[in-house]
Amino acid sequence: MKDLFNKAKAVLPNSYSDYSNFKVAAALRLKNGEIITGVNVENASFGLTNCAERSALFTAFSQGYRKEDILEILITTEQTDFISPCGACRQVMRELMPEDAKVHMTTVDGKTKTVENKDLLPFAFTENDL
Ligand code: THU
Repeated sequence: MKDLFNKAKAVLPNSYSDYSNFKVAAALRLKNGEIITGVNVENASFGLTNCAERSALFTAFSQGYRKEDILEILITTEQTDFISPCGACRQVMRELMPEDAKVHMTTVDGKTKTVENKDLLPFAFTENDL
């Protein structure tokens, strides 16, 4: 977990977030041991912002990885409070990561709360509902 935290912390300065001044980074661990990171990328048209979790997941999928390749994700910020994934990210994580994947929410100094992906979005709308 320390390695995931360090990787996320290392890319936090890459966050493109001058509108909110709220830097977020995520680090995704794959079953093959690889770690893929992402940061939030904002836009003058605010609604087009991409959160760190989705940046990391979309990068993994862009490299050809899929849900079953993913083990866990860690999210961090510069804040002393725990970061909690937004609703849009919960929906995307529910589809792109296994239900039992661990989601680690950390503070700036590495204190961690961990939940399972499926517990972040009860009664989710999923591909099975289509
Ligand atoms: N943000 C994330 O990147 N992940 C989260 O889990 C919550 C929010 C970003 C979006 C926006 O760039 C900034 O944090 C403030 O909402």
